[in-house]
Amino acid sequence: MTARVFAPGRVNLIGDHTDYMGGVVLPMAIQFGTTIVGTAGGGRLRMRSDRLDGVLDVPMPVTDPGSVQPSWGRYPAGVAALLGRTDGFDGEIVSDLPIGGGLSSSASLEVATAHALGATGSPLDIARLCRAAEAAATGVPCGIMDQLAVAAGVEGHALLIDCATEEVTPVPVPSAAAIWVVDSGQVRTLADSAYAERRAQADAAAALVGPLPRASMASIASVADPVLRARARHVRTECDRVHAAAAALVAGDLVRVGELMVESHVSLRDDFQVSTPELDALVEDLVQTPGVHGARLTGAGFGGNVVVLAEDDVTVPGTRMHASAGARTLAAPPNS
Ligand code: GLA
Repeated sequence: MTARVFAPGRVNLIGDHTDYMGGVVLPMAIQFGTTIVGTAGGGRLRMRSDRLDGVLDVPMPVTDPGSVQPSWGRYPAGVAALLGRTDGFDGEIVSDLPIGGGLSSSASLEVATAHALGATGSPLDIARLCRAAEAAATGVPCGIMDQLAVAAGVEGHALLIDCATEEVTPVPVPSAAAIWVVDSGQVRTLADSAYAERRAQADAAAALVGPLPRASMASIASVADPVLRARARHVRTECDRVHAAAAALVAGDLVRVGELMVESHVSLRDDFQVSTPELDALVEDLVQTPGVHGARLTGAGFGGNVVVLAEDDVTVPGTRMHASAGARTLAAPPNS
């Protein structure tokens, strides 16, 4: 009766702070992630983690995931609640993803839990459910990128996701491209970052000029408040960069992709203001390395990892990432 499931993490090549504004993103699922092994039954949701303290042990059905302790348990509890699950589950969580590093450890845990609890439906259905679970469990108003990249990953491909239509287009990653992540050593969580504040500012700008991914640069330039103007400019120009980067990847033009990544970092630093001096220094350092085409912060920012695009034979002080398949059930219970 044991189920065994795996959900990857993701690294975002380009397109940050655009998903919740209906923009485009270009993430890829990676080879690291979360494995859950467990057995259905009983009246409680019980989960232990190899790296996180405390045991999740709550009666089913879960009614208030936001108050569950330990706090990491809010993600699986949120998924169980949103699935409307009434019977229990007892499982072990094993993860090789850095926590709080911008590689979607929480979306990976959510999507793995959904598979472990037997969720059915398309990767998009599962991603929507897990995004809603994260909002219910933590109050963070995140977009769909992380959960969808984790659920729908395609081996050897990045995913061009239009977050307005939720359409996913796999884009092959050229074999000459090496993608690395380098840890800044600065840990952050979305709940205590200024994520919600940035989102509110982007929403306020959109209330003035309409959907930011499609707003004209002239209308953005007419926004009187300099902070809202800068937030809008980031979202609009970042969406243009995502489209250009996807086209350059298809054309095998890694130099161009790298330039766009650096432009993205500058925009996240200056217009969206989600970088840190540590991330900036790391990016500046990495782009000096021969054979490195570009680097940028990846994910929400405020710390975490830098993503690097380099030639295949170049080594940088980090971890090389391979575009991997999305979440999957490795072994289902015999009666499922
Ligand atoms: C976090 C959120 C995503 C996205 C990124 C920034 O990872 O969970 O939805 O907004 O930040 O691009």
